[in-house]
Amino acid sequence: MAIQRCTSDYLKGVYDVELESFNQYDVYSLELLKFLCSFCGDYSYVFIDNNEILGYIITCKDDDSAHIISIAVKRKARRRGIGSALLCTALRLLERGEVKKVYLEVRVSNSDAIRLYEKAGFKIVETLEGYYGDGEAGYRMEITDRKIAKEFCKNYK
Ligand SMILES: CC(C)(COP(=O)(O)OP(=O)(O)OC[C@H]1O[C@@H](n2cnc3c(N)ncnc32)[C@H](O)[C@@H]1OP(=O)(O)O)[C@@H](O)C(=O)NCCC(=O)NCCS
Repeated sequence: MAIQRCTSDYLKGVYDVELESFNQYDVYSLELLKFLCSFCGDYSYVFIDNNEILGYIITCKDDDSAHIISIAVKRKARRRGIGSALLCTALRLLERGEVKKVYLEVRVSNSDAIRLYEKAGFKIVETLEGYYGDGEAGYRMEITDRKIAKEFCKNYK
């Protein structure tokens, strides 16, 4: 088991995770994933077990914030801490003081993901009406507290 940078070698596996994790409105194309894994490659990772990609995270960083663009774990591998481990690759930027905040958007109905983010210390800061392609609203969630991030991630080094 290992977390590795998202490179083009892993794109097929990332796309498999994508297809079973998102609906038609949210799913990213292989081309977009390829672009993101390259453009945001320094902060985007895959979780691999026995040569199989079980999850991925794409995070893009600017001067003082990190934006989690997407995170997903294969159904059969959920609730084993893989999502948390991937999330911590972004939270580490906050821990190390490389950014002042980490933020993301999530469907208001996506209670599994919202639970994960709240457990990690993210807070809802904004409701984004009609944010998704089918008209559903999203929450913007963010975390700015380094100590909370550190505490959550201490088991995922
Ligand atoms: C959200 C997602 C990435 C979580 O991945 P995961 O590997 O299952 O997450 P973890 O095992 O690290 O879960 C950590 C915590 O999140 C919460 N959580 C995650 N899934 C949950 C579920 N189905 N029901 C209740 N709580 C859940 C729990 O608090 C869990 O801790 P616990 O298992 O100790 O109770 C995964 O469900 C997924 O890929 N969903 C589809 C894609 C998606 O919606 N991505 C987010 C887009 S914003």
